[in-house]
Amino acid sequence: MFSCALRYLSSYINKMVPEVVFVLGAPGAGKGTQCSLISKEYGFVHLSAGDLLREERQRPGSEYGEMIEQKIRNGEIVPVEVTCSLLHKAMQKSGQKRFLIDGFPRNKDNLEGWTRVMSDKTTLLFVLFFECSRDLCTERCLGRGAAGSGRSDDNLDSLQKRFNTYLNDTMPIVEHYEQQGLVRKINAEVAPEKVFEDVKKAFDACGLNQLTN
Ligand code: C5P
Ligand code: MG
Repeated sequence: MFSCALRYLSSYINKMVPEVVFVLGAPGAGKGTQCSLISKEYGFVHLSAGDLLREERQRPGSEYGEMIEQKIRNGEIVPVEVTCSLLHKAMQKSGQKRFLIDGFPRNKDNLEGWTRVMSDKTTLLFVLFFECSRDLCTERCLGRGAAGSGRSDDNLDSLQKRFNTYLNDTMPIVEHYEQQGLVRKINAEVAPEKVFEDVKKAFDACGLNQLTN
């Protein structure tokens, strides 16, 4: 809590530095759903690394389209140069100063790439980490696929690979931030409104206020 307050204070002093909250959790933990709620209530810009990669995959003439599709289908992580540059461009284009970065950093390469290029240009407020059992996450993603998500990775085969990547590559990143006291763990097994109650506590504790309207 103390380190969060310190970071918040230093970013308050230098208002030009964009503030970032990383959002991590297993596939199907509800990161996107919660990010929509947060962005509405706290005015953060929601940038999903997965959505930006899917967009780039669809962009006519993209030199990365095929590589991205292959990685997504196999639940593997795209090289950080591609993802970080998409995030950086989206941040600049928004003209805003507060960002929820959803699904990033997902592995060591992501973390190192961000540290190299972005950590001096941003203030990391904290990391929201949504905890949810593998069974429930799988059920949600398969349900999402059956309901027509159109995602090429909401199937059992891809999900198994996505979970392996999550356990082997993403969990060490969560642990890395945990050692720095930056992780806010949220139980994501309950209904979205209930999850959001806990999310709000994390934002309020960091001195971030809900928008008034
Ligand atoms: O977060 P989401 O579930 O939308 O991510 C879908 C896929 O996009 C991941 O399984 C991975 O293949 C790719 N991805 C990535 N690097 C990230 C985030 C997502 O390669 N930082
Ligand atoms: Mg998502």
